[in-house]
Amino acid sequence: MTTQSDNGFRKIQCTINGTPRSLFIDVRKSLLEVLRQELGLTGTKEGCGVGECGACSVLVDEVLVDSCLYLAVWADGTAIRTVEGEARDGKLSVVQQAYVDEGAVQCGFCTPGFIMASTSFVEKHEGQDVSEDEIRKGHAGNLCRCTGYQNILKAVEKSIKS
Ligand code: FES
Ligand code: FES
Repeated sequence: MTTQSDNGFRKIQCTINGTPRSLFIDVRKSLLEVLRQELGLTGTKEGCGVGECGACSVLVDEVLVDSCLYLAVWADGTAIRTVEGEARDGKLSVVQQAYVDEGAVQCGFCTPGFIMASTSFVEKHEGQDVSEDEIRKGHAGNLCRCTGYQNILKAVEKSIKS
């Protein structure tokens, strides 16, 4: 629920990686801009800025979104997950560890977005038998210029099985 408006700024409340936040934000700013510039959560990357590459992927109420296209005011009342929240107590998440184990990272620029896409996919398909094609479709919004995708596929398969 939006609680305040003043000259194009609004107060919103949301949780980010489990922590309740109250933010006074420019209504024109994207969630990506607020995460990176105002909250210092620079794990989420800006690639294309127009919804093509998925480098900015985050989860909003467990839905994968391109945060470059998502206005921060829309996040009022939601729970947001970014890559910074995935490791717990110094331990990588299952998906993060699988990326490491399978060598699914090269330059790393796309990786935070891929980790969020894979996390969303794995959580939805836990215990299921999924085909390579389904994994590819589940990551269709994310581009990688380095890895050739094969090791990313292996990491997702490994995460689902673990
Ligand atoms: S930076 Fe958002 S989709 Fe490319
Ligand atoms: S690892 Fe370089 S863009 Fe994906």
